[in-house]
Amino acid sequence: MVRIGILGTAAIARPFFGAPLRHATITAIASRSSSQAAAFAREFGIPAHFGSYDALLADPAIDAVYIPLPPSLHAEWTIRAARAGKHVLLEKPAAPSSADVERMLEACASTRVLYMEAFMYRFKAIHRHVRDLVNGGTLGPLRFIDFSWCFNIEALKRSLFRLDPSHGGGALNDLGIYGVDFLRYLGMPVPTVVHATIERHGGDGVDSFAHVVLRSGSTLMALTAGFSCDANYYALGGEKGSVYVSGSLAGRVVPNAVQMHLFENDQRSEEVFPAENPYVAEMDYFARCIEEGTRPESSEQGSLSNIRVLEEIKRAAVYV
Ligand SMILES: NC(=O)c1ccc[n+]([C@@H]2O[C@H](COP(=O)([O-])OP(=O)(O)OC[C@H]3O[C@@H](n4cnc5c(N)ncnc54)[C@H](OP(=O)(O)O)[C@@H]3O)[C@@H](O)[C@H]2O)c1
Repeated sequence: MVRIGILGTAAIARPFFGAPLRHATITAIASRSSSQAAAFAREFGIPAHFGSYDALLADPAIDAVYIPLPPSLHAEWTIRAARAGKHVLLEKPAAPSSADVERMLEACASTRVLYMEAFMYRFKAIHRHVRDLVNGGTLGPLRFIDFSWCFNIEALKRSLFRLDPSHGGGALNDLGIYGVDFLRYLGMPVPTVVHATIERHGGDGVDSFAHVVLRSGSTLMALTAGFSCDANYYALGGEKGSVYVSGSLAGRVVPNAVQMHLFENDQRSEEVFPAENPYVAEMDYFARCIEEGTRPESSEQGSLSNIRVLEEIKRAAVYV
């Protein structure tokens, strides 16, 4: 069992306790506040707790860390973890800038620790099924992807780092990155930016709503990411057929369905996938990569490529 420590009592650390891990065990939690670390440890039965992230990194009984901090802190704590000899499972987005990602990857490579970015959607059977449909040619050459992930940030009532430019906030970093990563997940070429329109929070703050057109090979993607409405779906249109998947990008442990339409003989079908906890599968996969010395499918260069695409979108955008 790979022994994992968590840096920060983040909301997103909670689902890792929702089902048993097979290859990892969460042995420590650290917080900027000792009492918060103790409360989190009590709630989830974690053996050790620390009142600082550095104290956790100094513990030789920890093999790897999970870092669910605000994006502005990802580079600093990934680099510190690597220097402490801990493997790193890092929450998305890897960092607010590609220069930061380059520094992080260099630190992990030079200390020979494994680095993996946490894209939990990759660990859901429904998306693997869609990838198989695409790669197996069932849909024919893909002509378009419509990918939208938006939520109403007012309803979140916390995590205000998402609206803070100095913390690496913004809808593209928080949600748009999934669409960019989804192209890589499907094995498609790194996209170029055709057009981007961005609204800023309060007129001059973080990007709070973005509508982007990307070209990846001969496929166009319409990517929408925003903090002011509710959308969570993708549709893929191929020359032979199309699929529509709604509500399954988020980590909620509920059944998910793929609706498919194949143009030949006008076949329509719906396949339902049972509820599964993608976070636990992700942590187990990370631990297995450490045990077996294999590199994660998401790849270090994938993290860098994603952030470069987001930077290109922001450079090319029309701000309204
Ligand atoms: N994969 C997913 O499904 C998913 C979903 C949501 C979020 N995320 C990602 O996970 C990360 C955390 O998101 P979250 O929603 O879980 O955030 P969150 O609940 O606000 O947790 C962030 C944690 O960071 C620590 N922290 C350290 N310095 C901080 C500062 N200056 N301001 C705020 N917090 C600070 C805090 O822990 P202590 O106070 O204990 O030190 C806090 O609990 C982000 O990178 C986000 O993009 C991923």
